[in-house]
Amino acid sequence: MANLADRVAVVTGGSRGIGRAIALELARQGAAVLVNYNSSPDAANEVVAAIEALGGKGQAVKANVAHLEEASELIKAAADAYGKLDILVNNAGITRDNLIMMMKEEDWDDVLNTNLKSCWNCSKAAARVMMKKRYGRIINITSVSGIAGQGGQTNYSASKAGMIGLTKSLAKELAARNITVNAVAPGFVETDMTSVLGDELLKKVDEAIPLGRRGKPEDVAYAVAFLASDQAGYITGQVLTVDGGLVMG
Ligand SMILES: NC(=O)c1ccc[n+]([C@@H]2O[C@H](COP(=O)([O-])OP(=O)(O)OC[C@H]3O[C@@H](n4cnc5c(N)ncnc54)[C@H](OP(=O)(O)O)[C@@H]3O)[C@@H](O)[C@H]2O)c1
Repeated sequence: MANLADRVAVVTGGSRGIGRAIALELARQGAAVLVNYNSSPDAANEVVAAIEALGGKGQAVKANVAHLEEASELIKAAADAYGKLDILVNNAGITRDNLIMMMKEEDWDDVLNTNLKSCWNCSKAAARVMMKKRYGRIINITSVSGIAGQGGQTNYSASKAGMIGLTKSLAKELAARNITVNAVAPGFVETDMTSVLGDELLKKVDEAIPLGRRGKPEDVAYAVAFLASDQAGYITGQVLTVDGGLVMG
């Protein structure tokens, strides 16, 4: 039997990049996956088609998870369709990089709302559903920028560090209900998000990664699938770094 057979998962920002790889890996391991998107319906539908081609169950659901009401509707869609929600992956995220002197207030607000508030929004709605079943896996996609900091990313790093605090607090709150809450912190992963970075920065990144290569979305997806599994049931409140050794604690 597949590792995640009969499990129901929601992946926020599942339409592209890391979220796409996570949605596909969870489906490959047997979970039914709600693929959330905000502005890329075609990409989300393509992910669902790929899940179905694997013989799995998938559904694209539009929601801007920065808004509590839309995030709640997303979680409700899972509960309505399957009667439960086992796995929530808070992956949706954006960057609006700039030095603090040049960063606009709306760049701070957009990044904090999309990356951090969304995580609180979806977790709040999911916890209600998971508590009833006394089972759950919440996995938050943070970043090494939230651990080590990164110039030009005061907004992004603060949002990702906030996700780590949220992860640990929620892990303590929900442990008695058999719900684990963990974070995965990717380093540099090749996606649309990082495709805008210049050659000079990429050269520096390449030189700094001990394992000698940039990450692939699948590298992150395998870690998430492990934390989503029954075998990870005694792990909670942790941050698993997936970065080729870039940032060592
Ligand atoms: N790439 C990296 O090197 C790296 C490193 C560390 C951490 N991360 C984190 O990993 C996660 C995924 O990053 P990525 O590189 O895969 O980014 P990406 O390729 O830019 O994809 C971002 C995803 O987030 C979704 N999204 C954005 N705003 C949303 C909103 N308000 N509501 C719902 N979905 C929304 C997008 O959906 P639509 O297109 O439908 O709007 C898209 O599916 C992010 O949290 C990011 O911070 C990435």
